[in-house]
Amino acid sequence: MDCQFDLIIFGGTGDLSRKKLLPALFAGYVAGRLLEGCRIILTSRAPYDGEMIDWLKEVFAENKPACGLEKKMLAEFASMVRFQTLSLKDGGDDWEALKQSLKADADRPLVHFLAIPPGLFTSTCELLGQYGLNGENARVVLEKPLGHNLESAQAINADVGRFFSENQTFRIDHYLGKEAVQNLLALRFSNVLFEELWSSRTIDHIQITIAEDLGVEGRGGFYEGIGAMRDMVQNHLLQLLCLVAMEPPARIDAESIRDEKLKVLKSLRPLEGEGIDRNVVRGQYGAGAMMGKAVGSYADDLELESPSDTETFVAIKANIENWRWAGVPFYLRTGKRLPDRFAEIVIQFKPIPHSPHAGWGQNINPNRFIIRLQPEDHLALRMMVKNHGAKSDTLKEVEMNLDVVADDSTRLGPYLRLILDTVRGDQSLFVHRDEVEYAWRWVDRIINHWAAKGATPKTYQSGTWGPYEAHDLMTRDRREWFHETSGRKVRM
Ligand code: BG6
Repeated sequence: MDCQFDLIIFGGTGDLSRKKLLPALFAGYVAGRLLEGCRIILTSRAPYDGEMIDWLKEVFAENKPACGLEKKMLAEFASMVRFQTLSLKDGGDDWEALKQSLKADADRPLVHFLAIPPGLFTSTCELLGQYGLNGENARVVLEKPLGHNLESAQAINADVGRFFSENQTFRIDHYLGKEAVQNLLALRFSNVLFEELWSSRTIDHIQITIAEDLGVEGRGGFYEGIGAMRDMVQNHLLQLLCLVAMEPPARIDAESIRDEKLKVLKSLRPLEGEGIDRNVVRGQYGAGAMMGKAVGSYADDLELESPSDTETFVAIKANIENWRWAGVPFYLRTGKRLPDRFAEIVIQFKPIPHSPHAGWGQNINPNRFIIRLQPEDHLALRMMVKNHGAKSDTLKEVEMNLDVVADDSTRLGPYLRLILDTVRGDQSLFVHRDEVEYAWRWVDRIINHWAAKGATPKTYQSGTWGPYEAHDLMTRDRREWFHETSGRKVRM
């Protein structure tokens, strides 16, 4: 980064700030992406009198930055960070002090990162307006969830819009900052090979999975009543689906990408009534075992006295109704307490129409293009080849690695990349308000149907791949989740 900027993290001592933002910012400083002289202000309700460096050491002991901990660098970084006691409901001396402290370099980019519950977005933006902290150099970053349904999202967008223009508003989805996601765009739109094959003519179906092995430990207060549909599907999964399915944008810029993503969201076939019962699986983890260790259920983790109908797992069969994708199902899946942690997009091509190698007596797996977002970035093509040197004529499946050599920027992680984009004012990897609203429209139908039916999630054992119905969603179409075949080595 070649300019100094000020970053205020609202909710600066909270979970997101400790776990993701501060480790990413420190790694950015060590890598020379944050200039000395940048100011990072952490707002909190209660005053903190201790030394910043001690507090940071504590934070980084639990949430290790990718660059490790280097004493001198940590001391330098700590000198750029400070706390600011602030009420996000009322103005007063603290707000005045904040304003004065920023006066010295009032022209630099000023980023307000709202790592706070959406219920506080409106009052915080009003106060930023009242204290004149929403000038042209200011941008506001909104962390999800953006509301809990279409109506509340519209209200938030309208409220924020009174104080910040759309160009100043950065709705963050950290999945869009992951290296493999950007590489997907590069591969699709810079090689004739992929785009020519990217449609129902050659693609059989697409799977998008975000699997987590952790439960809701420590975050239950946030999660209860929200669930996987709002927490993961409405944003991360639908955003990934948009990037896979969209038409080539005129340019790689915010407006062109937004236009194409929006068309995908508008083309998603709405699920209704029986279609929801048939195509959406909803689960909640029960007790079980992870890596051989007994673990409790969702209700145990939250110490709930009565059962909860919050889902921790969703699998969906979705369809996009347009020329390119008619007839190609998109299977989306996410869950907590699954046997492994990974995020992966699998493009499965159609089987070959006829095999001249039929006499060789083996299965010919369809080609697959794998885009793995985590735990590591990985792009690969799976293809059949002659089993080199084997006695008899046999075929085998191999993985052709398309990874690029990692450089510094790939090690920085999504949050730093996105914060730096915010400073530069580049919105290409952010979510426009229309996308948020269209995604809610699609998701609301499903959630409202569950509510109207009084439906409860199916229990699945912790450490398994969700309710049996998720497996069934595939097998009834004569398909399988990729990990169930030769795909990933999973920890069971
Ligand atoms: C967040 C969700 O947006 O993404 C969490 O609120 C989830 O529930 C997290 O655990 C997953 O992110 P990542 O990058 O760790 O896969």
